[in-house]
Amino acid sequence: MIGLGIETSCDETSLGIVKDGKELLSLKIFSQIDLHKPFRGIVPEIASRAHLEKINPLLSEVLEESGLKLSDLDYVAVTRSPGLTGSLMIGAQLARSIHAVYGTPIIPLCHLQAHFAVLHLEGVEPVFPVLGLLLSGGNSAIYRIPHFGKMEVVGDTMDDALGEAFDKVAGLLTLPYPGGPPIEKEASKYVPGPKEKDLLPPLLRNLEQDRVAFSFSGLKTAVSHLIAKQPELSTQAVCYHFQKSAFELVERNLKRAVSITGIKRILAGGGVLANSTLRNRLSQFAEKNSLEFFSPQKKIYCTDNGAMVAALGYYLFKQGYSKSLDFTVSPVRQETYI
Ligand code: KG4
Repeated sequence: MIGLGIETSCDETSLGIVKDGKELLSLKIFSQIDLHKPFRGIVPEIASRAHLEKINPLLSEVLEESGLKLSDLDYVAVTRSPGLTGSLMIGAQLARSIHAVYGTPIIPLCHLQAHFAVLHLEGVEPVFPVLGLLLSGGNSAIYRIPHFGKMEVVGDTMDDALGEAFDKVAGLLTLPYPGGPPIEKEASKYVPGPKEKDLLPPLLRNLEQDRVAFSFSGLKTAVSHLIAKQPELSTQAVCYHFQKSAFELVERNLKRAVSITGIKRILAGGGVLANSTLRNRLSQFAEKNSLEFFSPQKKIYCTDNGAMVAALGYYLFKQGYSKSLDFTVSPVRQETYI
């Protein structure tokens, strides 16, 4: 079964073609980072205009690379939530156009869940229930996933997402946008002293023991105070301690989520999972606690992409979920995650 995935929720225009939910035939991503860089954040109007400009050329490219025609598609999966409304509408309109001409079933879906389906393109078997750890520019959450099409929130962020914290802290340190890659690079150059104390406080220290939650806006403020109080600190030291404090909360939350749900299989995704320090830390944590832990091996699968949408579309389509023209897009995530 051949499916096209369309992803235009935020600042990547991406199309992917996938066979049987597990074999990638083509993936193209146009990243809008350079367009938004001067503003150090996503400008919705610029995002939708860029999607509109790029989406048809990318469609031609994926069809050409896979040697397929639009009439060969068994389904078109498209991100319908969450995201920027104007951007989502561009992807939705392409799906509707293909449906109008070829009658291809549309699978409108929540791209948060697609971050976990993408692992099946790397050979991870779809075994449920699983815990889904999502760390991106807009989300920091852990979900219990009984099957695709359903996700229950185990813990969510109270304020900023982790990727957003990376971006804001990079701003404080005058590092480029987006902040994840340069912060990771600076942190990796730092060698702490043998008895060096943590320069930043543990996060959510007073949270009830049985609760899973993220909060990163306080960490950003703590970094800004640290820089003001100790201007002599190197950027490398600040980045190292920022990551250490943030990742400690991720690991603590994961541990709690495992103990609350009893689920020992974890799928992780989202832009922040491109961070090698985090991936290594979570892999070691999983090994020590006899857990199964999977995160995308290809960094391109961490970011929003059309292949993950096509992969999730396959599983939802097999469950009988499909729409024609009458679906809407939504800026907020849907309870059902489809
Ligand atoms: O999932 P994603 O590509 O898109 C959105 O959520 O829109 O995530 C983007 C986020 C950005 O905040 C970026 O700074 C962060 O992922 N990111 C990273 C790394 N690479 C990207 N964060 C930490 N370390 C990285 N290496």
